[in-house]
Amino acid sequence: MSSLLVDDIGELVTNDVEGEAGPLGIRRDAALLVEEGRVAWIGPSRDAPAADRRLDAGGAAVLPGFVDSHAHLVFAGDRAAEFAARMAGQPYTGGGIRTTVGATRAATDDELRATVRRLHGEALRQGTTTMEIKSGYGLTVADEARSLAIAAEVSEETTFLGAHVVPAEYADRPDDYVGLVCGPMLAAAAPHARWIDVFCERGAFDVDHARAILACGQAAGLGVRVHGNQLGPGPGVQLGVELGAASVDHCTHLTDADVDALASTRVDGGHTTTVATLLPGAEFSTRSPYPDARRLLDAGVTVALATDCNPGSSYTSSMPFCVALAVREMRMTPAEAVWAATAGGARALRRDDVGVLRPGARADLMILDAPSHLHLAYRPGVPLIRQVLRNGVPQ
Ligand code: NIG
Ligand code: FE
Repeated sequence: MSSLLVDDIGELVTNDVEGEAGPLGIRRDAALLVEEGRVAWIGPSRDAPAADRRLDAGGAAVLPGFVDSHAHLVFAGDRAAEFAARMAGQPYTGGGIRTTVGATRAATDDELRATVRRLHGEALRQGTTTMEIKSGYGLTVADEARSLAIAAEVSEETTFLGAHVVPAEYADRPDDYVGLVCGPMLAAAAPHARWIDVFCERGAFDVDHARAILACGQAAGLGVRVHGNQLGPGPGVQLGVELGAASVDHCTHLTDADVDALASTRVDGGHTTTVATLLPGAEFSTRSPYPDARRLLDAGVTVALATDCNPGSSYTSSMPFCVALAVREMRMTPAEAVWAATAGGARALRRDDVGVLRPGARADLMILDAPSHLHLAYRPGVPLIRQVLRNGVPQ
């Protein structure tokens, strides 16, 4: 069994809050031992055990790898012209999803695979060690199944989003499309998916269709997530809470009742079982008002940050960019944003082995080219991720 000691860590963010190390569980002058892909020991550098190999962090900050709990990587084409039109004043409506559906259906498996691997690799180089990947640009039985099979080649966190929009060929008979999603499409998708998701929004799926689809997915053993309250107020949050969703994502337009509903899922004074996942890349790229993270945090709602990487509303794979936006635009402190991008994402995926560095957790971590996690927001746009370890293996 080969061991690796990451030594001379100036600031170690553990997110392990047993003790008095603040919300990020920060330790200074620390070392971390990796054995068999897991964290085996954490302690002061001076007490570090012997190991087969040593990785010198040189006094820099070390953090858990980012957990990006919301990404749409399986697609073809891009929508740069749509982005340019928005920056010239056009609104975002989600209507461009159908453009990407056309390109995705026309692509070969290898073309889709190449895009997924390129974006997954791009994210890894920016510190993301766990990445949820959704289908949702195929919208036929075969195209949704192959989208998920390709996603599952790189991630265990795969999500069936057959209910992204009603495809053009079903435009005048949405009930039939819901029947397809709940029947043959779910049957073909479920073997490759851990989660089911629905875009519950005006112009996509109404609350009754969304509830029916999520309930079918749940009955097939999938966990529930919801796209909701992105473009305007709506029923997404309430539906997510009703169904025990792991997360409602976007949460840009919330009423007080929505915030209360999320807060009501709080267990034992700790975290909420339904997380609010905020996606500031989408507000950036659609020039929309940002969600108010402070309001959610002050109400006791657990918040995650994710990229929403997709070719329409948020074509970024960068969690550091999202952390910087959250701090600058959403009233989060740097510590809250870093927690939300790591431990918060893990909560949104109901994982306790990632987003945290403690004995037994996966040795997924990043060494920064900076002395502190603060630099992720303080130095926006700068490539600060010096080295990433996934399952203890330098990438
Ligand atoms: O999460 N909101 C729905 N789906 C994506 C956008 C998809 C697209 O525009 O292609 C999102 O923002
Ligand atoms: Fe999304």
